[in-house]
Amino acid sequence: MTSWYEQHVFNPLMDRALRRPRVEELRRALLSRARGEVVEVGIGTGLNLPHYPAQLRRLRAVQREEQFDPRVFARAGGRELELVRGDAQDLPLASSSIDTLVCTFVLCSVDDPRRALAEFARVLRPDGVLLLAEHVRSPRRFEQAAQRALTPLHRHWACGCRLDRDLARSLAAAGFASRRPAAAAQPVLPFPASELLAGAFGLGRDRLA
Ligand SMILES: C[S@@+](CC[C@H](N)C(=O)[O-])C[C@H]1O[C@@H](n2cnc3c(N)ncnc32)[C@H](O)[C@@H]1O
Repeated sequence: MTSWYEQHVFNPLMDRALRRPRVEELRRALLSRARGEVVEVGIGTGLNLPHYPAQLRRLRAVQREEQFDPRVFARAGGRELELVRGDAQDLPLASSSIDTLVCTFVLCSVDDPRRALAEFARVLRPDGVLLLAEHVRSPRRFEQAAQRALTPLHRHWACGCRLDRDLARSLAAAGFASRRPAAAAQPVLPFPASELLAGAFGLGRDRLA
C-alpha cells in the first residue's frame, strides 16, 4: 500500500526531479525504440507515457502498489494502456512474450535487482529489447564512497532508493548485453544520482542485430 508520505511528499518531489529537461530528452530517445508488445515496469507517475511511439501492438504497465498514481491516467492521454498489479521480481507475464520491456529509475528501489533482471530475461522474446535508464554506482572512488555513506539516509527518505548499485554487473549476470552504445551516458540528474546507465539491451551478444 502507498503510504501518505509516499503519495503526498515523495511522489510529487520525484515527479519534479524526474521531468527535468535532460531526463525528458533521455526518455524521448530511449522510448522511440519501443516496438510491438510493450511492458513498462514501475510506471510511477507515468512520465514515460507521452514518449511512446503511436503504433504499438499493446502497452501494459506493471506497478507493485495497489493504486496507480492519478497522473498516470492524465499522461496516458487517449492511448490504450493496461494496468497490471505486480512486482518486478515476480512478473505476472508469460515467458518469452514481450518485445520491449521498459524500466526507468526503478531498479534502485527494487529489493533484489538481480531477481528482477532474471524476470526481465524470462519474459522477453529472444529478440526482445530492454530499454533501461537507471542511476548507478559511480566508478570514481571518492563519489562511490560518498554514495555508500549517503545511501542509508537516502533510502529512508527516498522510499528505498539506493545510490550505490552496480547494475552493469547485474545486467551482465542476467545475460543482457548492450545492443548499441548507451543511449546517454551524460548525467541527467545531480550527484549523488548522476552516474547513469542507459540504453537498449538484448539477451546475449550472438542474437543481437
Ligand atoms: C523513482 S520511481 C520511477 C517511476 C518511473 N519509472 C519514471 O521513470 O519516472 C520508482 C518506481 O518504481 C516502482 N517500484 C519499486 N520497486 C518495485 C518493484 N519491486 N516492482 C515494481 N515496481 C517497483 C515504484 O513503485 C515507483 O513507481
